[in-house]
Amino acid sequence: MSVDRQSIHGQWSSRFAFTLAATGSAVGLGNIWKFPYIAGENGGGAFVLVYLICILLIGIPVMMGEVLMGRRGRQSPFNSVIELCDEAGATRAWAGLGVIGVLAGTLMLSFYIVIAGWAFSYALAAGRNAFNGASAEEIGSLFKSLTDSPVRLTTWSTFVSVVTGVIVWRGVQAGLERTVRLLMPCLFALLLLLVGYAMSTDAFMQGISFLFKPDFNQLSANGALVALGHAFFTLSLASGVMMAYGSYLPKGVSIAKTCLVVAAADTIVALLAGIAIFPIVFSYGLEPNAGPELVFVTLPIAFGQMPFGWFFGTLFFVMLVFAAITSAISLLEPVVAWLIERMRMTRGQATAAASFAVWVVGLGTVFSFNIGSDVLIFSKDFFGAVDYLTANIMLPLCGLLIASFTAWIMKERATRDELDLGDSPAYEVWQFTMRYVAPAAIVVVFLKAIEVIRL
Ligand code: TRP
Repeated sequence: MSVDRQSIHGQWSSRFAFTLAATGSAVGLGNIWKFPYIAGENGGGAFVLVYLICILLIGIPVMMGEVLMGRRGRQSPFNSVIELCDEAGATRAWAGLGVIGVLAGTLMLSFYIVIAGWAFSYALAAGRNAFNGASAEEIGSLFKSLTDSPVRLTTWSTFVSVVTGVIVWRGVQAGLERTVRLLMPCLFALLLLLVGYAMSTDAFMQGISFLFKPDFNQLSANGALVALGHAFFTLSLASGVMMAYGSYLPKGVSIAKTCLVVAAADTIVALLAGIAIFPIVFSYGLEPNAGPELVFVTLPIAFGQMPFGWFFGTLFFVMLVFAAITSAISLLEPVVAWLIERMRMTRGQATAAASFAVWVVGLGTVFSFNIGSDVLIFSKDFFGAVDYLTANIMLPLCGLLIASFTAWIMKERATRDELDLGDSPAYEVWQFTMRYVAPAAIVVVFLKAIEVIRL
């Protein structure tokens, strides 16, 4: 039995270290940039409700499953799955879930570096006091001048990929822990400040009811799929990250509690971002369905109005950059580990190769905002297509495989032992959710969205 083995890469010093790293991966652009804009595009309240249900019923159980697979396997994600297949006497074909995950992570990173570049550029703009007293139109054209320029976007995405690559190459652990420990409280405080500003606008209640009052007429089947996909994206699931982090988790630490803490922190940050953004949208007559630019054309208005706005604005976008970088390194790490193991590269070579490949694919996203905006793949621009393929297809599929693997294939003795939930019915609840609820929900939402079934 392989119960007490440790990963050759070491272990977290404490449960807290794991929580920090997992939170650093989970909290990122997904919470502050993506969540508000997809909530806005999909009509608000009903979408948010479905998203919260997905986090609770699918996200948290799958996260527990992924972490337990890592801790049981004690190796890089791919090899952990192989090990677990052998332990359970199952076919090694399950390792395919690792392949889908790593591929999805790499694709997601390709647009992640571009959007993180926007945040960098905005940190500088805030520092120059560019938002001071600017009207909604002026802020809008500031955004457009950035995304219209392939050169500026490429410069920033290059910068972000170099920074991410260097951190991953040098080893993430030491710096990561300190960054996240400092970052989370600051990010939280700044979001509260923005919520305070939002409360001072006359559309605060309108924003709140947009976000929290469900109107199911506003939610399409595709919207439900976007909510499901986002639950995976925002919790950093289904791409090997949680499995890798789980493999460094000491035996005896409660997986359930830790996952709950990470999911709660992640959800709170997303909701706070929404609460800050939508009142500004409505009080300045902007459209909630503006798309990926939403955060970048709303929050600067608030910074332009408030006292010391340049200071808070700079701090906010710097925080956003850090949040994005701690997530980006977690997206890069699995590919790098895989290249080292499979292609026998050194860490430096692997990081350089992976970063370069990601950067090249990222050019597709760069051009999709300007010169390539009319190049369509399945009627979506390049960024839209990559986003759809990863979040709405690859992550749910991989999540389905993780749920099936941990709840049906792995021996109950093994999962019970790892989760160690004592005599409470919590284990049964987890197992039932992973066996039936999560797979059924994923399959139904998916088939309905691609219109195979009509309900
Ligand atoms: N969770 C991050 C965010 O919300 C993005 C991310 C980082 C991610 N690592 C991941 C998404 C792994 C999926 C899988 O911004």
